[in-house]
Amino acid sequence: MKPEDLNRIPFTLLIPGCPITFMEHKRCVVHIARKSAEAMNEFMGRVLPVNVDRVIAGAILADVGKLLEYEIGLDGQARQSERGEALRHPFTGVAIALECGVPDEVCHIIAAHAAEGDQVKRTTEAYVVHHADFMAYLPFKNPKNVKKAGG
Ligand SMILES: [Fe+2]
Repeated sequence: MKPEDLNRIPFTLLIPGCPITFMEHKRCVVHIARKSAEAMNEFMGRVLPVNVDRVIAGAILADVGKLLEYEIGLDGQARQSERGEALRHPFTGVAIALECGVPDEVCHIIAAHAAEGDQVKRTTEAYVVHHADFMAYLPFKNPKNVKKAGG
């Protein structure tokens, strides 16, 4: 997979015919997460401080493992790789991030951002990224929410 593929591959293979690209989803999640963290700091920061920089880093990197989970098939379409079948992107994402010297607090966000993280005691920053990610994902699971192309 090449960097430019991220502008055209669907952000998930779990929604058939997914109309949103990896980069569209990624930017949306980063912005939801940042604004949510800022709102939480504004109203609850006195007792529940959120590290906004950590949230932004985690939101950007949460799906980095998809570079290993997905591959481009002969038809030019994204599909799950053999490695991706064994290790979903939260796991490979942590492997990549650790190798690059990403701090443990941010690796925790990568590890816990998806459903696997439901078994983890999430930090506040990980909760913010998890919910931002799911806000930009779950509505697509009800086809009635999705505008048809050209409609
Ligand atoms: Fe993800």
